[in-house]
Amino acid sequence: MADRISTLVMFGATGDLARRMLLPSLYGLDSDGLLPDNLRIIGTARTALDDAEFRKRADAALQEHLPEGFYSAGIAQRFLGRLHYVPLDITEPQHFSDLAQAIGDACHGVAIFLSTAPSLFKPTIDGLAGAGLACPTVRMALEKPLGTDLESSREINDAVHAHFPEERTFRIDHYLGKETVQNLIALRFANLMFEPLWNSAHIDHVQITVAETVGLEGRGDYYDGSGALRDMVQNHMLQLVALVAMEPPSDFNATAVRDEKVKVLRALRPITAADVEATTVTGQYARGAIDGEPVPGYDDEIGRDSATETFVAIKAHIDNWRWKGVPFYLRTGKRMPMRDTEIFIQFKDVPYSIFASRGATTRPNKLIIGLQPEESIELRLMGKTPGLDRQGVRLREIPLDIGLANAFSEHRRRIAYERLLLDLIEGDPTLFVRRDEVEAQWAWIDGIRAAWAEKGIGPRPYAAGTWGPSAAIALTERDGISWHE
Ligand code: BG6
Repeated sequence: MADRISTLVMFGATGDLARRMLLPSLYGLDSDGLLPDNLRIIGTARTALDDAEFRKRADAALQEHLPEGFYSAGIAQRFLGRLHYVPLDITEPQHFSDLAQAIGDACHGVAIFLSTAPSLFKPTIDGLAGAGLACPTVRMALEKPLGTDLESSREINDAVHAHFPEERTFRIDHYLGKETVQNLIALRFANLMFEPLWNSAHIDHVQITVAETVGLEGRGDYYDGSGALRDMVQNHMLQLVALVAMEPPSDFNATAVRDEKVKVLRALRPITAADVEATTVTGQYARGAIDGEPVPGYDDEIGRDSATETFVAIKAHIDNWRWKGVPFYLRTGKRMPMRDTEIFIQFKDVPYSIFASRGATTRPNKLIIGLQPEESIELRLMGKTPGLDRQGVRLREIPLDIGLANAFSEHRRRIAYERLLLDLIEGDPTLFVRRDEVEAQWAWIDGIRAAWAEKGIGPRPYAAGTWGPSAAIALTERDGISWHE
C-alpha cells in the first residue's frame, strides 16, 4: 500500500458536495477508525471563516446529512478537531501562500481535493504551483465536471500534468465508489457461470437506466450548460458500460482494470449525423406530477427558454468480437416516475424449446443488477408452475433475488465517497478514472453533440413523471425490445 496522507486539502469546503457528501463520508471513515490518527483536513473556499466557524458549519452539515442515528457527539468532536480553514480567493496569490503556510511541508503526505468549475481548474493549479504547493508527490483528486468537451478536458488534464503526474491524479467518478458497481466486477470475475455466457453468442442486449425523480435541485447554472448527455452519460453511464463490457483484467489493480475499460471506451461505435436520429433521443421535462405532486417544467424552473436536454436515450454499439451485434440501450433522465438505476442484461432464448409441443413458451433469462434505490442482484429463470400438467406444461419466470441489504445486513450502507476518499488517502487509484478513459469518453460524446448540431436536433418535451418522450420507447420497440421497468 502507498503511504497514507496526513493532510487533506478540500477546495470548495463550504459547497454543496462538501456538506452533503465529503464531510459525512470523512466522518463515516473516522467513526470506523479508518482515518490516519494524525490526519488534518484543511478546508478552503472564498467565504471568510475561521476554524471555529468552519467547524460549526461542518457540524451542522453532519447533523443534517448523516443517516438517522449515526451522528455521535463524541465522534463528531474528534472529527471536527481535525478541521481547519483557510479563506482562499484564487485571484489572490497571497491566499495560496496562506494555504501553503497552513499545510507546512507540501511534499510529504498531502492530498488535494479539487472540485471547481472547469474554467477555474487551471488558475487554481497555477495558484498552487506559485505557492510551492505543486510538489509531484501530492495526490490530486479532481471532481467533475472535468471540462465540457474533449478539448477543454485536455486543457485541464494538461494543466494538471504540468505539475502532477498521472499516477497521482485521482479523477473521481462517484459511481465507481458505489458498492454495487464494484459488485459488478465481483459478479463477473469471482463466479464461473457468467463469463462463458457474457458475449454476443448468448447476450441479446443490455439496458442501462439511470432514472432520477429530482429536477434541478438549485444547480441550474451548472446544469443548463451541461445537460443529461454530459452530466450523466459522459461519465457515470459510460463507466458502467465499460465495467459490463470489459475483458477480464489480469489482476484487480489500477493498471489492469483501467487498461481493459479504456479498450471498451475506444471501441464504442461513433454516432454520426447519418445515424443520430435513429440511435438517440433527447428530451426536456415539461410540467407534470411526481408521486401525485405537481412539479414545474424545466423552463419554468430555470426561468427562461432553454434547449438543454434533461433526458437522453441512446442505442450504442461496441465494435469488437465479444459484443458484435449486441445493442447497449442507455437512458437517463431527471423527473422520471421513480428513482431507479439498474443494469439489465437480457440473454438469448434457448436455441430450441422442448416444451413447445406441450403448449408452453420459454422466456429468455435476465440478469438485473439494481444500484438504486436498493442494491440487488436478480436472475430471472424459467421454472415449472406446480401442477399435474394435464392441460400442458406451464412455465413461469421466477426470480432468484438477492437483496444486498439483507445478504450483508451486518454492513452499513456507505456513501460512495467514503470508498473513494479512503482510496485517495491510502493511495489506491483503481477506482479512479485515468486520463485516456476520460478522453475516450469525451470523444464519443462530442461526436453525438456534433451530430445533434448538424441535424438541428433539440430536446422533445415529456411530462415530468413519465419515462421521457415517446420516441425513447420507439428507440427500442423498433428492435422488438421493451425498456425494462
Ligand atoms: C451527479 C450529477 O454526477 O450525479 C447529478 O451531476 C446527478 O445531476 C447525480 O443527480 C446522481 O448521482 P446518484 O449517486 O444520486 O445517482
